[in-house]
Amino acid sequence: MSNRMWGGRFAEGPDAIMEEINASIDFDQKLYKQDIAGSQAHVRMLAEQGIVSSDDAEKIVSGLNTILSEIEAGTFKFSRALEDIHMNIEARLAELIGPTAGRLHTARSRNDQVATDFRLWVRDTLDNLEDQLTELLQALCEKAETHAGDVMPGFTHLQSAQPVTFGHHMMAYVEMFARDRSRVQDARARMNESPLGCAALAGTSFPIDREMTAKALGFDRPTANSLDGVSDRDFVLEALSDASICAMHLSRLAEEIVIWCSAQFNFIKLSDKFSTGSSIMPQKKNPDAAELVRAKTGRIYGALNALLVMMKGLPLTYSKDMQEDKEQAFDALPNLSLALAAMTGMVRDMEPNTKVMKKAAGSGYSTATDLADWCVRVLGMPFRDAHHVTGALVAKAVEKNVELHKLSLEDMQSVEPNITDDVYSVLSVDKSVRSRVSYGGTSPANVRKQARRWLKQLERD
Ligand code: ARG
Repeated sequence: MSNRMWGGRFAEGPDAIMEEINASIDFDQKLYKQDIAGSQAHVRMLAEQGIVSSDDAEKIVSGLNTILSEIEAGTFKFSRALEDIHMNIEARLAELIGPTAGRLHTARSRNDQVATDFRLWVRDTLDNLEDQLTELLQALCEKAETHAGDVMPGFTHLQSAQPVTFGHHMMAYVEMFARDRSRVQDARARMNESPLGCAALAGTSFPIDREMTAKALGFDRPTANSLDGVSDRDFVLEALSDASICAMHLSRLAEEIVIWCSAQFNFIKLSDKFSTGSSIMPQKKNPDAAELVRAKTGRIYGALNALLVMMKGLPLTYSKDMQEDKEQAFDALPNLSLALAAMTGMVRDMEPNTKVMKKAAGSGYSTATDLADWCVRVLGMPFRDAHHVTGALVAKAVEKNVELHKLSLEDMQSVEPNITDDVYSVLSVDKSVRSRVSYGGTSPANVRKQARRWLKQLERD
């Protein structure tokens, strides 16, 4: 039997394989709420404009409400033969209210319908991501405030570089995730235009009111070009780009958590709630949640890439290729949401081992820069000369197998005779971090100030 929605010119029904490759109902049923809201806004507008009678519109609206309850109760029967969520719902509407159902699709096409539904879904998802990012930011700021003065090694090349504070390290991620959040807000603002009423591609001869449907669905305005309206997928690409950058940030923090809770580093205790054991090695406590957050990045980048490649080279306007957009987003964005929730939990629960971190911060000649700065400040040396002298002092410490602050004054003076024992006052890690008062630097006072500023800001947002 040919298809009732579009089969007028068809003598035969589709091959079984055709049905399988063509049907999207297995995944796009996720859009049922958005589809029903879009249809109700559309038919109310049709009635307002005198294109359908208000009696018919009422019947359609209430039939759609019945369908909504059926889907939510799990009693709705989805059919692959009806391809997608749009036709499944419309077919059921016809069963419920008869031929009047056929009036719903006046001045509309599945092309603008699916673009509308999917935008609504992406918009809700972005709103949810924004809230989750706010929670993660809060957790990071609270950790930072508590540990504003706790010293840890700062690394470059994963080699000890200079002491920093744990709070400062947390606040670095606050800056990253705050940018992610503002990217999500930007994407939402840019995407919030309604394609409904673009119809198949060229607009419609019916006197529709696109402003009205846009407003009813919470869009800022209708899209301005009907060809673009049905064929643009920038909104999901932008969401996936933002998601990819955020996943990259999550993955960097996840990797640090994995390193920090190894026995060799032992910088943090990860809570039992976000770890697992080993079925053979009884001593093990594995950071599985952090590893999975790190891993999620792969599928999120994959989705972005798949969609960029799928869209590339598609001539205007709609092509069925575009049906492939949904599964990618349905996989990537909820996985990002899960990763954000797991990271927020881990950050809240993690306890830095402050003693271990402080000890590690003092090893690896991490205050060498402080020593060079002292030579500049007290001995009046140009920084390049001070750097050279300090390098020689580090070599001396390596030769004697001691840390810099344990190098005797005699040894120091054998390298640079003008050094006095005042130099030891800058060689402790606490002094080092306290001295980094430049704007954005690691001094505990700075960190506290930044954490409080952000916490206040987050309360207002
Ligand atoms: N299921 C389709 C999709 O997801 C809906 C649009 C179909 N439009 C069409 N002209 N075949 O893209």
